[in-house]
Amino acid sequence: MGMPSHVRIVEVGPRDGLQNEKTLVSTADKITLIDRLSATGLQSIEATAFVSPKWVPQMADAADVFAGITRKPGVHYPVLVPNEQGYERARSVGVEEVAVFTAASEAFNRRNINASIDESLARFAPVMERARADGVKVRGYVSTVLGCPYQGDVPLADVVRVAKALHAMGCYEVSLGDTIGVGTPAKARAMLKAVAAEVPMPSLAIHFHDTYGQALANILACLEEGVAVVDAAVSGAGGCPYAKGASGNVSSEDVVYMLHGLGITTGVDLPALAETGRWLAGILGRDTQSKVGKALSAE
Ligand code: HMG
Ligand code: MG
Repeated sequence: MGMPSHVRIVEVGPRDGLQNEKTLVSTADKITLIDRLSATGLQSIEATAFVSPKWVPQMADAADVFAGITRKPGVHYPVLVPNEQGYERARSVGVEEVAVFTAASEAFNRRNINASIDESLARFAPVMERARADGVKVRGYVSTVLGCPYQGDVPLADVVRVAKALHAMGCYEVSLGDTIGVGTPAKARAMLKAVAAEVPMPSLAIHFHDTYGQALANILACLEEGVAVVDAAVSGAGGCPYAKGASGNVSSEDVVYMLHGLGITTGVDLPALAETGRWLAGILGRDTQSKVGKALSAE
């Protein structure tokens, strides 16, 4: 399979980007962030997470954030839900797309959602059933696909099994997450190929954290395998509070710059995205972690 001609970016900054921030970002700023992102031409923006506020205090205002955004026609605003309670909270404010999340590593899953892999899949079953009845789309995440902070190596067979299970349950897309950013291109490619042998490539997405600076190289390797959906976070924010050592996601600006340079369309206005990334960095009290964002501001 050749490289895709168009890539859909799933912008996870408002969720993955913010969930690990110690200082609480105001609800108003979260709403502004999402509305600014939708103005850049992004088609998918993961808005927030309806998880336990005791576990992730930064996402406690999920309902207010979702209710406050201006939903742009044609843009999808998925939210994380870990269980039926999260699904109900999300639906009560009009959410039309959710994402369930589990991992290929038992040790990480236990720390992140307090469940074994099979328990988590069982928890998703009623969510899937209700989503089907409500006409709600469900995305699925597999974390720790290239390594786990607690278990170390993660067998490819475990990644394939969990991705296959999510797809079989009805997830229209399964995002493969290198939660702690330890992957390198050949491993990323081999992992994607193994999953794509069981789950069709058009139903797969990739999600790289950039801890070791390998994310863009990993993405390129996966594009060469034909993947056409890439998760990224504006300004390179991000990290999972339950994954020791996890740092930011690959920044959306850098991914968009690379894709456009490869002649792949995204529909995203790069200067507007970079400007949003610098604005967010200011809110978080630091410089943008996007090299492209920095370079464009110096022009
Ligand atoms: P638990 O403590 O086992 O849950 O947590 P429980 O069912 O026993 O409930 C305990 C309390 O939580 C109860 O409240 C429930 O009502 C409440 P209490 O009676 O004590 O007052 N509760 C909830 N409240 C609001 N919304 C809910 C909800 N569910 C229960 N949905 C649970 C289990 C899954 C809830 C918890 O572990 C949790 O919320 N974990 C989320 C952790 C998280 O958000 N991690 C980051 C996202 S994943 C990620 O970043 C990876 C990704 O980016 C991909 C990658 O990079 O690999 C996606
Ligand atoms: Mg992540």
